[in-house]
Amino acid sequence: MKTEIVSAQECAKAIKLLRDGEVVALPTETVYGLAADALNPDAVAKIFEAKERPRFDPLIVHVPNGKMLDEIATLESELARKLMEKFWPGPLTIVFPKREIVPDIVTAGLETVAVRMSAHPIFREVVRKLNRPLAAPGANQFGRISPTTAQHVFGELGGRIPLIVDGGATEHGIESTIVQVASRVIEVWRRGPITDEMLRPFGEVREQTSPVNVGAPGQLPTHYAPRTKLIVVESLGNFCVPPGRRIGALAFRPVAGVTDSGRPRPTTAATNASSDFAAMHHLTERGDLREAAANFFWMLRELDAENLDLIVAERVPEEGIGAAINDRLTRAATN
Ligand code: TXA
Ligand code: MG
Repeated sequence: MKTEIVSAQECAKAIKLLRDGEVVALPTETVYGLAADALNPDAVAKIFEAKERPRFDPLIVHVPNGKMLDEIATLESELARKLMEKFWPGPLTIVFPKREIVPDIVTAGLETVAVRMSAHPIFREVVRKLNRPLAAPGANQFGRISPTTAQHVFGELGGRIPLIVDGGATEHGIESTIVQVASRVIEVWRRGPITDEMLRPFGEVREQTSPVNVGAPGQLPTHYAPRTKLIVVESLGNFCVPPGRRIGALAFRPVAGVTDSGRPRPTTAATNASSDFAAMHHLTERGDLREAAANFFWMLRELDAENLDLIVAERVPEEGIGAAINDRLTRAATN
């Protein structure tokens, strides 16, 4: 199959394909999604096929408005309503009890459905004009690095899907926060751009700690993984590159004495074997965690393309969106 990449001006092509029961990759403010009409089981099956995603992994459904939400889910919780008022449209997914109309293939047979309302102008336009709920997981092969540009989507799914709408690099760079609300408690299934700190004014925030939940493979211990072996360290400053090994580094921010071998080295006593990384990326120049999140997946992807023996990634400060980056790092790791 030929995969076409078009600009926002050609959204009509996406709408037509979706209406015809096809899949289309679209930008959202988090990562690119692979969308299909959520109420058409045959269309949704094509998402699973293109991604080689196991059928037990439920999808997120994107709605254009509150009316559509009412059609697919029941809204009993006042707290959930408040979260929607505050964070929708935006990078927050809320798990609701589902209505009959939602096909089992979307929810993997669960009684709940995960719903979100994207703030991305292209995604919004498509879902509004279509006026149908859209199922859309990340537009990557199952278990692999999430795509934050149209080119990444092409690299992952080119030849398997008919169309990608190019909206440039995504704003947040990591997937939406997923929550479920139980009376006054906000249970966080997946950390993301809506941080614990932002949720706390609305109720008690609890992490869902179950190590493996079959209903939520974003929770699987290994996910978001590069092909290259990856380990996570507290600090790159202490890491010594063994001679003859091609090792790449994913650093939080620049620190004197830790550079890649291609750059001039600072003449400090800290200059030692740790300088011999074959490739190095800094998630942020300024120590800004939002910038780090936006850069995270594409830098990981670049390192993965460098033919390295190993990627060493440094944990970032565990605050704000940093917690979500560390969560992705842990799941991308093979240690
Ligand atoms: O930012 C995002 O959320 C992106 C964009 C494209 O919208 N989508 C995304 O989808 O990250 P995906 O399929 O990569 O992740 C969906 C996650 C999975 O971990 C899935 O298990 C979980 O949502 N999920 C879906 N339905 C659920 C449910 N009813 N209860 C709990 N978790 C659910
Ligand atoms: Mg994903």
